[in-house]
Amino acid sequence: MKQDELKKAAALAALEYVEEGSIVGVGTGSTVNHFIDGLVNLRERITGAVSSSEASTRRLARHGIPVIDLNEVTDLPVYIDGADEIDPALCMIKGGGGALTREKIVAAVATRFICICDSSKQVGTLGAFPLPVEVIPMARAYVMRELAALGGRPVVRPDFVTDNGNVIIDLHGLRIAAPVALEEEINQIPGVVTNGLFARRGADVLLLATQTGVERHLHR
Ligand code: A5P
Repeated sequence: MKQDELKKAAALAALEYVEEGSIVGVGTGSTVNHFIDGLVNLRERITGAVSSSEASTRRLARHGIPVIDLNEVTDLPVYIDGADEIDPALCMIKGGGGALTREKIVAAVATRFICICDSSKQVGTLGAFPLPVEVIPMARAYVMRELAALGGRPVVRPDFVTDNGNVIIDLHGLRIAAPVALEEEINQIPGVVTNGLFARRGADVLLLATQTGVERHLHR
């Protein structure tokens, strides 16, 4: 199977986690797009979706799936999203699409985070994928210096503005042995909105599409 077929297989496997009558948390990216397309068939059986990006909101709306403001929601049984990398403890790097802040907010509200990935995203140690950091524009140069001091190589993502009006700095060249500590450290830098490490709140379930089928890994 090609990579996009694997993404689709993982995404469709997540449909069984959608609870009847519930609101579903929806992530962002090419894997999640397959999930949204599959969710159409359950449209009549859910109340709606909370979206993590303008792009996912548009796709949900195109499919006639009601998009609900997160501020109106107290009970969100599942959040379904992809990842750029995921390690054996189900800690992730996310934000390749730049939606990391809203993704982290919706994930925080959800009871369970279901990560959908093809097997290319599975790694032993996080960091080969550059770590995205969303930054308030006026703090860009300062945050670049602080990130460089952590040992990585910060690069401003060219021609990119987040849904929140901010810039993304991608931090290259890290080997992230302690993801929870690094997530907290970077988030302490003034001007950082959030970073793409999802370690303090990692995934609860990983649906990993491989050539031999979709594997289910549970957070231990
Ligand atoms: C979006 O900002 C990201 O966090 C995505 O979830 C991640 O980049 C995975 O995207 P794909 O499903 O397109 O690989």
